[in-house]
Amino acid sequence: MPRIVSFVLVAALLAPLVGATQDAPPSFLGEPDAPRIAALRNAEITDVKKGKGGRSLGFQITLADGTRGYFKPKQTFSAAHWYSEVAAYYLDRELRLGRVPPTTGRKLDWSILAKAAGTDDRVDELGIAPDGTIKGAFIWWIPEPLKRLRMGRKWERWIRIQKTLPITPYQRPVDYRADLNRRPGVREATDPSRPLAKNPDTAERPAELSDLILFDYLTQNVDRWGGDFTNVRTRGLGGPLIYLDNGAGFWLGEQRLGLMEARLKALQRFRRATIEAVRALDVGALAERMRSDPLAPVLNDKQLDGLRQRRQAVLDHVEALIARYGEAPVLPW
Ligand SMILES: Nc1ncnc2c1ncn2[C@@H]1O[C@H](COP(=O)(O)OP(=O)(O)O)[C@@H](O)[C@H]1O
Ligand SMILES: [Mg+2]
Repeated sequence: MPRIVSFVLVAALLAPLVGATQDAPPSFLGEPDAPRIAALRNAEITDVKKGKGGRSLGFQITLADGTRGYFKPKQTFSAAHWYSEVAAYYLDRELRLGRVPPTTGRKLDWSILAKAAGTDDRVDELGIAPDGTIKGAFIWWIPEPLKRLRMGRKWERWIRIQKTLPITPYQRPVDYRADLNRRPGVREATDPSRPLAKNPDTAERPAELSDLILFDYLTQNVDRWGGDFTNVRTRGLGGPLIYLDNGAGFWLGEQRLGLMEARLKALQRFRRATIEAVRALDVGALAERMRSDPLAPVLNDKQLDGLRQRRQAVLDHVEALIARYGEAPVLPW
């Protein structure tokens, strides 16, 4: 075979492989999603326990193949949006962050959950349909202990070029507002006796936190901060940062909340690959992917349009920072 023909042949054979590596299958911290998603969608339920530790009513479920998951059903409590959990998963994979545990929409018969719920008051808040089914986000259960990352006061300097802000937006909405309107003599919501942040516990931590803030801005998740860092957790002590509890996002009303804008503005240092992924994010393609979810479409047109607006706001913010400080300090990672 002439050399040029064999070269073309080899190149043609390799092309799909190269494509496959560039287009790596969705995974959570490098572990492929496919078998977990398949189990969460289809496997039979063998055990149900009521969840602990959250405001919303959730269920810890074991499936026939041994896979475990946390089911967060549709409920009226304002910060518990099952669709936000599901959309956060698809967005995370679209951006190739791999920090949200595998998640799918699933509809269950309420009769499967009723016994575990017992007489819990929050049953009244659940969105059980007239046909006795209930929709929800089914999230793969992370087996390792999830450790709170308590960074200490003024950790924000890790993710800023300028010095820390007098009032951090990375706290509960009520505490942030209280601090903004604080009169002299009234105590700060951020306990001033708390230890000051030292160096990050791992070299990657500042970049991981930057990604998290950016991600929460895109999903419009207002509920990451406060509560003694209960929603800022690592997979095992000193392990990678994960994004758990993404239910308080994708609001149906205002698409650019003041507090979230403040959280974006305070963020001044970014991972280059993440900004490239945001630039490459095609919200239409994301919507198309979400159409494969059992509870599609997951987000409505207004929510998708809000995401488009926030994507653009991130890119504008980064561009303005680069114009002011140059690329090196803005994209250090
Ligand atoms: N996928 C999961 N893997 C491991 N633990 C989980 C998972 N989902 C929830 N949990 C545990 O259940 C608690 C409550 O879940 P969370 O999503 O925070 O609910 P809420 O929205 O009610 O706050 C979490 O703090 C965590 O301890
Ligand atoms: Mg929680």
